[in-house]
Amino acid sequence: MSTFKAPRGTYDLIPPVSATYLAVREAISAPLRRSGYGYVETPGFENVELFARGVGESTDIVTKEMYTLTTKGGDQLALRPEGTASVLRAALEANLHKAGSLPVKLWYSGSYYRYERPQKGRYRHFSQVGAEAIGAEDPALDAELILLAHDAYRSLGLRDFRILLNSLGDAECRPVYRAALQEFLRGLDLDEDTRRRIEINPLRVLDDKRDAVQKQLTGAPLLRDYLCDGCRAYHAEVRELISAQGVTFEDDPKLVRGLDYYTRTTFEFVHDGLGSQSAVGGGGRYDGLSEMIGGPALPSVGWALGVDRTVLALEAEGVTLDLPDATSVFVVPLGEEARKVLFGVVAELRTAGIATDFAYGGKGLKAAMKAANRSGARYAIVAGERDFAEGVVQLKDMESGEQTPVPLDKVVPTLRTKLN
Ligand code: HAM
Repeated sequence: MSTFKAPRGTYDLIPPVSATYLAVREAISAPLRRSGYGYVETPGFENVELFARGVGESTDIVTKEMYTLTTKGGDQLALRPEGTASVLRAALEANLHKAGSLPVKLWYSGSYYRYERPQKGRYRHFSQVGAEAIGAEDPALDAELILLAHDAYRSLGLRDFRILLNSLGDAECRPVYRAALQEFLRGLDLDEDTRRRIEINPLRVLDDKRDAVQKQLTGAPLLRDYLCDGCRAYHAEVRELISAQGVTFEDDPKLVRGLDYYTRTTFEFVHDGLGSQSAVGGGGRYDGLSEMIGGPALPSVGWALGVDRTVLALEAEGVTLDLPDATSVFVVPLGEEARKVLFGVVAELRTAGIATDFAYGGKGLKAAMKAANRSGARYAIVAGERDFAEGVVQLKDMESGEQTPVPLDKVVPTLRTKLN
């Protein structure tokens, strides 16, 4: 062990578990790639102001959880705590919204940083795969995204997840509701901090996890009773489109998200095997965000799924992904001459697209066969001088143990046939 450890709240992805993470990213992005979403990658840090304005000055993410830094040149930057503001910034900067037809559909995968109190499922460095559909107001687009996340989880074999759905209203109806909620909250017995929150961000109080607060919230006005006709009709259609696909969801009138940019549709994917950090993914519509960061009006919707928590969900359900072994063929040379010849065979197999590894380090036969076993290879090639004298190598089936000679110039086609 070295003197250093991974920083608090972080962990390393190492084989073999790391293969599961890659497969999860792949599985989450596959439905997006099939649905017109193009890949976008943005820097790991941005101007801090982007998140302050985008995510919201009063959110925990901005006030407590951002990793901020001042560069030597005096720029105020923040490690990205989420992807939506960055992706929208990038789309606007590249004028994607003017270049073609709307919506601009983008997906992304990467690392995000929040200075949170670490616990199982909650890390300071974590990984998301996300999708944003920018510049269209259409209930079918909200439904599409929810269905694609649902497809992703199903394709991974997950079953114990639920979809929570709500509407947060718009610039017309939310202020009316906000005032009604404030009035209700001001009459409760709450601590100083929470009282302050009532004035700045009253909807967040609904999300307070403390029992003493939750008890007092029964009877609180609910946004769904205040939705304007436009929001009501929009939400009804989103629900109808999802239901029509046989996907079930739960209405959660108290679902508020930890980011301020949401309007109308909001949703969360929760998994019941994860304890307190049960949200495996979340998202919603953010019709005002573009204007908040200085762009034109571009109603948009998106989500991000947490890769770390999705892997925990797989573990909680006992799902092991059916991952192909990294190595199909393991090559074992017997002696110096064989090492040179077979090194060439390794290269040939790899060029032919066959995942191949080699017994490096001059191991004896026993140690080399042990390495072959460990690699998970389906076949081993073993050969020494005596085999070369006959122009063959020995091909060993690692499952049956059966060994057959194969002419040196037939190794690639033989293995290609056998592995298919
Ligand atoms: P979010 O709900 O803050 O939304 O994060 C989405 C997911 O990222 C969470 O459901 C969770 O799985 C994962 N996640 C968040 N924080 C942590 C953490 N500290 N440790 C482990 N996993 C975590 C957003 O980030 C929005 N940008 C989603 C979105 C996209 N809305 C519209 N478009």
